[in-house]
Amino acid sequence: MSAIRPVKRRTIRDIRAAKGKAPVVCLTAHSAPVAAVLDRHCDLILVGDSLGMVVYGFQSTLPVTLDMMIAHAGAVVRGSTRALVVVDMPFATYHESPEQAFRNAARVMVETGAQAVKLEGGVEMAPTIRFLTERGIPVMGHIGLLPQSVNAQGGFRTQGRDAEAARRLVEDARAVEAAGAFCMVIEGTVETVARDITEVVAIPTIGIGASVACDGQVLVTDDLIGLFADFTPKFVRRYGEVGKAIEEAVAAYASDVRERRFPGPEHVVG
Ligand code: KIV
Repeated sequence: MSAIRPVKRRTIRDIRAAKGKAPVVCLTAHSAPVAAVLDRHCDLILVGDSLGMVVYGFQSTLPVTLDMMIAHAGAVVRGSTRALVVVDMPFATYHESPEQAFRNAARVMVETGAQAVKLEGGVEMAPTIRFLTERGIPVMGHIGLLPQSVNAQGGFRTQGRDAEAARRLVEDARAVEAAGAFCMVIEGTVETVARDITEVVAIPTIGIGASVACDGQVLVTDDLIGLFADFTPKFVRRYGEVGKAIEEAVAAYASDVRERRFPGPEHVVG
């Protein structure tokens, strides 16, 4: 007889209800074992398209495909039982039309079992967010620095530096909320603007490089555990040195094999 694992995940209602009560904890995961660890500590797990850089070695998130996201998101859903899992829609899988966005987001939901998708963009993406949320697909918004628009934004630049840029960001946030998003990421944005947005919208803001003024925080897990060391943004705090631990373990193994210390008698089978 097989046991069915009870699944009681956070819901989008729980996340909305956290606004003004408790900070929302979010991290990225791309595999089942990492998701299992995060699941014990996080409200939200984001299958971020940052996997293009931290897993696949691309220079940006642009080459990430829907099939890659679906494969990793399925693993994250299987590895978790408590957290709400959100999946990034990759570049060019939702920009063409709301119908294209729905088709691809529906694939993500059906093939992975995730609870929501994330789209980058403000005012210009609001009709698409509305199209999805009105058809039963929960959406997390993403405004401020938009990694998928790295070419259009002229690099990874802090957003909201002057009054006009700040005004446009507040407009983006209002549009994303009005379109039905249940929360939104604010990335790489000056603190005063992140604070203003957090005050004017009724849904939680999840900051990354957007200060403690946001309702919650997200980081790329590979950055915070010290696994991805090619580039560490200023807003990351390193909580571990997993890259160094892997280096030490692999060096010890290589040395044991070369000196014939591994395998030992205890590892002999039969
Ligand atoms: O792709 C990602 O990991 C993200 C976070 C940085 C918010 O979008």
